[in-house]
Amino acid sequence: MKVCVVGTGYVGLTTGVSLAFLGHEVTCVDLDQAKVDMLAAGRCPIYEPGMEDLLAEAAPNLTFTTSYADAVPGADVVFVAVQTPSAADGSPDLRYLRSAAESVAQALDHDFTVVVNKSTVPIGSGNWVDAILRDSFQQRETRPEGAGRNSTEFAVASNPEFLREGNAIADTLYPDRIVIGSDNPRSLEVLNRLYRPIINQTFTPPTFLPRPEDANAVPLVSTDLASAELIKYAANAFLALKISYANEIGQLAAKVGADITEVARGMGLDQRIGSRFLQPGVGWGGSCFGKDTKALIATASEYNLEMPIVKAARDVNQRQRAIAVERLQDELRILKGRKIGLLGLAFKPNTDDLRDAPALDIANSLIARGARVKLHDPVATERFRIEQPELAPYLSQTIDEVFADCDAVVLVTEWGQYLELDWSKFIGLMRTPIILDGRHVLDAERMRRIGYKYIAVAG
Ligand code: UGA
Repeated sequence: MKVCVVGTGYVGLTTGVSLAFLGHEVTCVDLDQAKVDMLAAGRCPIYEPGMEDLLAEAAPNLTFTTSYADAVPGADVVFVAVQTPSAADGSPDLRYLRSAAESVAQALDHDFTVVVNKSTVPIGSGNWVDAILRDSFQQRETRPEGAGRNSTEFAVASNPEFLREGNAIADTLYPDRIVIGSDNPRSLEVLNRLYRPIINQTFTPPTFLPRPEDANAVPLVSTDLASAELIKYAANAFLALKISYANEIGQLAAKVGADITEVARGMGLDQRIGSRFLQPGVGWGGSCFGKDTKALIATASEYNLEMPIVKAARDVNQRQRAIAVERLQDELRILKGRKIGLLGLAFKPNTDDLRDAPALDIANSLIARGARVKLHDPVATERFRIEQPELAPYLSQTIDEVFADCDAVVLVTEWGQYLELDWSKFIGLMRTPIILDGRHVLDAERMRRIGYKYIAVAG
């Protein structure tokens, strides 16, 4: 099928490259010429494991352009995957979505095109995009050059994305489910056809990413527009509150002398609960959970509805970052003048994404209390220098530099490199060998045997 993808961020790029890999003919549009040039040369502007390999495998079916006129005409499906940053009041800023919809409407030229909202957009955006498309299309009809317009039909659908950064390709090719929503049955048929190779798992896997042994046919949830839109928010908010629940129980575990890692393991083995997203620590960050929980609360308030559970998940998450600093204060008594190392800046491993990363709050809060910080990340430092210029002077090149003369080191992001460190090599460099495990991933006993004072966010 012929596919156009608008926006080459995480979601758009992964969608475009994956669909091209599956054999569809894909054109990705982005207004950023530098990004388009980079992608056309086979290089990936974001850090995402496997993306450049998939780009190479998909190259014969994949084109990048800055022009809607090169991409939209003839497309069976147009995915809109532009950014929807938070506005000041927490509601998503839909300016980019509006202008993308207008540009798509200017270029539509096919007997039937499904325009799909792939960005996480507020509930009701499907209708809103539909109205923009129709208005812009009408205006275009008054122009003489609107050839082919008489046979042009289109409909809007929602197809929320559930990929995790760092796992984007596996989550796209081997998903738990695919959700498509539209009030137009023909759109659902088109999307069903588009995703057949994934639904039936009939494609030959990429050379670098074999099909998991337990991969089965993928369930397809085919529903109305509003339900598809709400599924995305409900799923993200649930994952966020699952983590916050583990963190809340973790604080109680610390008080009563229980081990939260054991508690989470014991809970997670109940299949009704499930073991994933119960990992305690400094909490969630990234571009999704914070923004989506905020947007859900904002949407509910438009209907005079409160969302106390979602609010509580957000509060607990923020509290975890403060608790990390308090734990250091409890140990060191005085933070002023102390040197504290932070290992890991990205909001989670395998990404260089720094949006709402716990490390930023923790570093700023330590600095505000008069401590000196040393910051390290195996991948995100380049982005960090650009996005966090005021914190950039505190970056360390090496792990030795982080530990040297340090009063405490905090493991903030559980990068594989840190887990495999020979921790005994660094203890001698520190002034006081305190390790705060911000993710509850280090072996406490082993750390203590080496001679560290091991503390965790809970416990
Ligand atoms: C999340 C969802 O997992 C995806 O399904 C969704 O598609 C995506 O948002 C989105 O809406 O675009 P992502 O933000 O990439 O994906 O990252 P996650 O792997 O979900 O991790 C989110 C945060 O939770 C990270 O900071 C991670 O460290 C933290 N986390 C995760 C925990 O603190 N504990 C856990 O047990 C799991």
